[in-house]
Amino acid sequence: MWEAGRSNVNTTYEMASSGHAIGFLVAVIAIAAFYIIPDSDPRIVQLQSQVNTLTSEVVGLFSRENVAKATSPENVEDSGKLFTVDSLKAFDGSKNSPGLHIAIMGKVFDVSKGEKHYGPGGGYSFFAGRDCSKAYVSGDFTEEGLIPDVVGLTPQYMVGIDDWVSFFEKEYTYVGKLIGHFYDDQGEPTPNLRAAHKAIEEGRKLKSDEADHRNKYPPCNSEWKQSSGLRLWCSNRSGGISRDWIGVPRKLFNPGTNKWRCACIKESELHNPHLRPYDNCPPSSASCVGDA
Ligand code: HEM
Ligand SMILES: *[C@@H]1O[C@H](CO)[C@@H](O)[C@H](O)[C@H]1NC(C)=O
Repeated sequence: MWEAGRSNVNTTYEMASSGHAIGFLVAVIAIAAFYIIPDSDPRIVQLQSQVNTLTSEVVGLFSRENVAKATSPENVEDSGKLFTVDSLKAFDGSKNSPGLHIAIMGKVFDVSKGEKHYGPGGGYSFFAGRDCSKAYVSGDFTEEGLIPDVVGLTPQYMVGIDDWVSFFEKEYTYVGKLIGHFYDDQGEPTPNLRAAHKAIEEGRKLKSDEADHRNKYPPCNSEWKQSSGLRLWCSNRSGGISRDWIGVPRKLFNPGTNKWRCACIKESELHNPHLRPYDNCPPSSASCVGDA
């Protein structure tokens, strides 16, 4: 199931979301790809938008129509049992086991209805009876990867884990907490959990800032032909951002790295100091022959 994606990190994460997508779990990593791939080359920018289109198509493919009603996390927090690492281990869905549970971020869920995934012989049976929070975003399903410790993951990856938690809250039944990494023996959050929540919040903020930025400076369309070279142009839906304006192509510089990408700029934003016009491009033309 997951092996196919292992050869390509980006693919792995897109598929991770699409495998269980409910529509809201959109690939964290399609966005991470924007960090990993330097975006100075407009041809790469186009590739990225193709990857995004692909992601949303695949997400649509796997989307479920009937999603179980969400249990509100507030009701759920203080009910339920406390598990130890050892007591949870028994819940692997095997013949004489007491049930089939997984834990993520210290929250334990009854996943009996997902037995085909998590039960013995299922593609994700390694998640059963334990907390493997990190592996839900790393895709590292070796013993070293199947751990609760999420220290060192970027805020964006932390959002990915939080999306998985929401997925389990919606799809499955919350049953309690796992004592250890994220909760103490009184069921109170540990510093690990508080740090993780802080990182998630930071990640959500980053993502919303990014979305604002993308809406303000949508990527250009691009096309490369042997005969005419690179053409860059704006439309009212370039970069996958539908809008009631078109804009003109400009190089948008990232102040930190001095790399640039092509952005469609509204007239009122043309004074932005991080913009430079393309050579050989009329200043108010929506279409340019680019210099890469
Ligand atoms: C980080 C990597 C990945 C993780 C953590 C992951 C995790 C999961 C989990 C937990 C499920 C069960 C969801 C449920 O309870 O309904 C699942 C289902 C699934 N996954 Fe993945 N997965 C990953 C990568 C992939 C890749 C690369 C593919 C495809 C090449 C894939 C294909 C599927 C499919 C087809 C399903 C079944 C969906 C269904 O029957 O509803 N997964 N995945
Ligand atoms: C985008 O442009 C097309 C025609 O090129 C037009 O039909 C459509 O209404 C425009 N969309 C918006 C949001 O303005």
